Amino acid sequence: MTVRVGVIGLGLIGADHVARLRSRVAGADVVAVCDIDSSRAKAIGESVGALVLSTATELVRSDAIDAVVVTSATTAHAEAVLACITAKRPVFVEKPLAQTAQECLDIVSAEMAHGERLVQVGFMRRFDPGYAAIKASLDAGELGVPLLMHNIHRNRTAPTATSAGLIRESVIHEIDAIRWLLAQEIQSAQVALPRPSPHAPQGVRDPQLALFRTTGGVLVDVECFANSQYGYDVRCEVVGSTGTAAIDGHGDAIWTRVGSASRSVHRDWRSRFGPAYDRELQAWVDSVAAGEATGPSSWDGYAATRVAESTVSSLATERIVAIEMIERPALYA
Ligand code: NAI
Repeated sequence: MTVRVGVIGLGLIGADHVARLRSRVAGADVVAVCDIDSSRAKAIGESVGALVLSTATELVRSDAIDAVVVTSATTAHAEAVLACITAKRPVFVEKPLAQTAQECLDIVSAEMAHGERLVQVGFMRRFDPGYAAIKASLDAGELGVPLLMHNIHRNRTAPTATSAGLIRESVIHEIDAIRWLLAQEIQSAQVALPRPSPHAPQGVRDPQLALFRTTGGVLVDVECFANSQYGYDVRCEVVGSTGTAAIDGHGDAIWTRVGSASRSVHRDWRSRFGPAYDRELQAWVDSVAAGEATGPSSWDGYAATRVAESTVSSLATERIVAIEMIERPALYA
């Protein structure tokens, strides 16, 4: 079966996912596209021979498609995902699931009313071999009891970044990785702020240090630095009672010369996580073909956005904020 995909939102990652679905993911074809920027939609749609539709609603309801990819701006996610659930369409939505925890809950409620999962959220770290190796090691008990986790999330430049956006759009990847790797919820969050980088946009607190405590007592730090100037650098280390597991973000190659060692630096998230995006969309297409949603769920999307919201509320005070979530519904057990 070839899954006929409609793509909503054709910006940076939307265009990437269109190319990915056409050339690197088996069993899928992009048959319809839409974007509020109609010239963009026309250019990309015509280049891949897909129907160019005017609105997300029209695309979701079209008989030409089997499933939907939502890569529009975050503000447009909730409406598109809810339309997909109403139309009973499997949907892959880029992170974050929606802009607010309440919008995420509306999606969880609609999916529960439908009775089965239709949504996969784009937390692609789960499909990265490095993160998957740490997960396997933790699950096999090779590190003993997890105690601490250190994370670094740096981008080269982010001229439009905001203080809250660093958490809502970037740290949210770590929030999901923490919950997934440790299989624990996050119970409190705190932000600590050093002096801003002179390269940060005016008034933006960049870098930031976020501290999380999980329900199992693991303490986690995340350094987020959106304007590091030198490159894209994502690292993670879990410290257990009998060992540690780590991935560094520099890349595979290390060069050593007399008196020095050097390694490559990724320019952006596309080169660092390209293979993870491929695997992520392949898993989604396979799950659509099998008729059973897998991967990060609406619940995961809700939990991550709920934690991000509480973390943002610590920005003003730098105090610890307790995180309150609803009970996990049985659909997401
Ligand atoms: P972008 O700004 O480059 O593209 C967004 C596109 O959505 C634009 O073409 C815009 O015209 C379109 N759009 C906005 N509202 C729309 C609507 N109502 N209907 C149809 N199209 C609409 O943004 P980018 O960087 O591509 O990000 C898109 C989403 O993907 C965001 O939610 C972002 O957080 C997420 N993202 C995820 C990444 C990951 O690592 N998983 C990496 C980059 C982005």
